[in-house]
Amino acid sequence: MLERTFLLIKPDGVQRGLVGEIISRIEKKGFKLVAMKLMQMQRELAEEHYAVHRGKDFYPELVDFITSGPVVAMVVEGFEAVRQVRSLVGATFPADADAGSIRGSMAAEARFNLVHASDAPETAIREIATFFSEEEIISYSRDIDRWLSSASE
Ligand code: CMP
Repeated sequence: MLERTFLLIKPDGVQRGLVGEIISRIEKKGFKLVAMKLMQMQRELAEEHYAVHRGKDFYPELVDFITSGPVVAMVVEGFEAVRQVRSLVGATFPADADAGSIRGSMAAEARFNLVHASDAPETAIREIATFFSEEEIISYSRDIDRWLSSASE
């Protein structure tokens, strides 16, 4: 099923110069970027995005960190994009992440785990709407998309 997911490159990804590497992995897999922006998250947006973690011991540090520097927010479209992007990203704790994943190959700690990706289709819809307006999401077609959509019919 063709779907959209939300992917956020955290401040450590930007600071470490890994934006290109991370986007490249998404593109190489065949996914399509349909929205993207470099932004400084304000506390209000961070608290909304991470509302499910409010009250957890790591929550204050999480909000401090995510607002500490620029992030890159994007919307990624493709076949089973939510599950497949989670797989490219790897487990939350880098020690548990597959060695070839983004976290498994480039991160060492849960707080500095480089990226956030939506964990379910309903979460993706909410997170995309938190960061992007409808006008900021661009629909365009590639030749490969015609093959993909006819294959999934
Ligand atoms: P993310 O996918 O952005 O979702 C919530 C984030 O909280 C998670 O990635 C980690 O960066 C962070 N996180 C989750 N659990 C812990 C933990 N036990 N200690 C520190 N940070 C955590």
